[in-house]
Amino acid sequence: MYCTRKVTDDLIWVGADDRRLPFFEGVYGVPDGVSYNSYLLLDEKTVLFDTVDKAVYGVFLENLAHELGGRPLDYLVIHHMEPDHAATLELVLQRYPEATVICNAKIKTMLAQFFPMDLSNRIQLVKEGDSFSSGRHSFSFVMAPMVHWPEVMMTYDATAKMLFTADAFGTFGALNGRLFADEVDFFSECIDEARRYYTNIVGKYGPQVQAVLKKAAKLDIDYVCPLHGFVWRSHFGDYLEKYMLWSSYVPEEKSVMIAYASVYGHTENAANILAARLCEKGVKVRMYDTSVTPASYIVSDAFRCSHLVFAATTYNAGVFVTMENLLHDIAAHNLQNRKVALIENGSWAATSGKVMSEILSGLKGIVFYDQKVSLKSALNEGQMSEIDALAQAIADELAPKPVVSASAPAAAAEVKVGDVDKKAFNKLSYGVEVLTTNADGRDYGCIINTACQVGSGDPKVVTISVIKKNHTCDMVMKAGRFNVSILTEDAPYSLFQRFGFQSGRDVDKFADVSYEDRTANGVRYIPEFTNAVLSCEVVETRELETQMLFIANVVEAKVLSSAPSCTYSYYHAHIKPKKNPAPEQKECWVCKVCGYVYEGAELPADFVCPLCKHGKDDFEHVVPNAKPKQKGYVCNICGHFEPCEGELPADYVCPLCKHGRDDFSPAEQ
Ligand code: FEO
Repeated sequence: MYCTRKVTDDLIWVGADDRRLPFFEGVYGVPDGVSYNSYLLLDEKTVLFDTVDKAVYGVFLENLAHELGGRPLDYLVIHHMEPDHAATLELVLQRYPEATVICNAKIKTMLAQFFPMDLSNRIQLVKEGDSFSSGRHSFSFVMAPMVHWPEVMMTYDATAKMLFTADAFGTFGALNGRLFADEVDFFSECIDEARRYYTNIVGKYGPQVQAVLKKAAKLDIDYVCPLHGFVWRSHFGDYLEKYMLWSSYVPEEKSVMIAYASVYGHTENAANILAARLCEKGVKVRMYDTSVTPASYIVSDAFRCSHLVFAATTYNAGVFVTMENLLHDIAAHNLQNRKVALIENGSWAATSGKVMSEILSGLKGIVFYDQKVSLKSALNEGQMSEIDALAQAIADELAPKPVVSASAPAAAAEVKVGDVDKKAFNKLSYGVEVLTTNADGRDYGCIINTACQVGSGDPKVVTISVIKKNHTCDMVMKAGRFNVSILTEDAPYSLFQRFGFQSGRDVDKFADVSYEDRTANGVRYIPEFTNAVLSCEVVETRELETQMLFIANVVEAKVLSSAPSCTYSYYHAHIKPKKNPAPEQKECWVCKVCGYVYEGAELPADFVCPLCKHGKDDFEHVVPNAKPKQKGYVCNICGHFEPCEGELPADYVCPLCKHGRDDFSPAEQ
């Protein structure tokens, strides 16, 4: 029975899931299955965009026939000739002999290689920039060579603002009834499989992906329709951001991936000890046994992490086979720009370190640590210092770097990063804080009300979110570190005005303050009207609609006073001045955050408060009353309103329903 879903009113997904495929392309395990997407447009002409793998041809043909509903298939657009999408072409072309194939010259060549059928009168060749219309919809074609094969192209539907992207923006994983990325928590549930798909399928072709992303940037896109995984109709920018990182070989996170190959556990033991030392220093570690975890998962995390450690035993005068395979796989995928450390092991003639470095040394931007640890059979007590030194060298790059500042007081220099007073976290509430950071030698700060502890292990983890338009947000992104000074109830409104109602782009918010206190990471904090400061190192960011979410490890925390924390409600009730009265007889919009008044009946949808940078949602529409309210009484029975300044007369009777004074309540109209 057919199983389809509408993408838009006239575009239907006619693809299928495959959950029985053990290995995609015969090599990549797909425990969550995979989808083969094909799309049918029902315009004045009917257009099918790609077909599916032969494993699901049955339901696909049913889907196609059902949605065509007896109409002929006029066009078949082929974006990619790899058989996971093209295996069913021949069947479709036989069933729909009137269909014209739209493709480029390379696709035409491959079509003949895969299917020796005579299509000489049925092919319409297109090249970059060519256009085509199916009636209401107008299309143009974008060549995308090597994303993932040389013949790949994409189609842009200017009418629907839709881009058919072939393999690009696909994911591993069956759709399971969902079609759109917004029907699933994509960035928590699916991003790992999306990364594994990208890095293993097109990771090698970063420059080609970058080239096509540049072309796509010129298009106005509302929908992205890939050949695997979800259709994007919102928040595509978040996913695009990941593609920008992956295709430019920029790590997603400052962290260490340790992959080890160990025959009897001694190399594993050294890797475990290194991992423990790194974690003690607050470094995030991901760890894999190359004999257990399939290479595609490790390749994926090699793209994710900034630092890589490979530990392997010597084997057949080379390196252990699972490590050798992994490193060749990483090299084949063209990984770049990583710091790499090696641990070798050999009971009589260790060669694994040399072989590992040879495999990786041809890659661009790979920098090896000088500290190579060489084991003879097992780590001995004397070599613990070598592991410690390697851990320290890595942590030095991933841990917060103190900013040398002439103005930093001597006392601050005595505080070591890592001094975390747990009592400082007791000061957190749904409160208000000053967020500070330091970038390019300048100090920045703003007011936030979003600091929250989300991890109580070691290191402790907090989140904050900051309005993206806020300059301090950009500076935190740049610096990768920040302080949160927790404000107390005695904080004056002027402090909120200083940090909240002006922009660091325009003024130095610290210009005339009487203090110069900094934590050990060199970032300023607010020593007065505060009861604690948390010093944090950003480990992850997530772009929300208007805010940037920062997830950060706390590297220092101290209590500053015992004054009660200022909660958000306390600020509104006792510190924030009462709302500015609207100018008399003038319709206006008043910012609920800072009181700024915008005069006028309409506030533009994209308006941003010039003082505090909040958007339209934080404004209250104030419409002056045409006439003052009148005091009186309302009848509880029929609703009649009787104007009256004092008491209703004792013998008063409602002129409408005839009920007496006892059935009236005081009211204003
Ligand atoms: Fe999904 Fe390159 O094929």
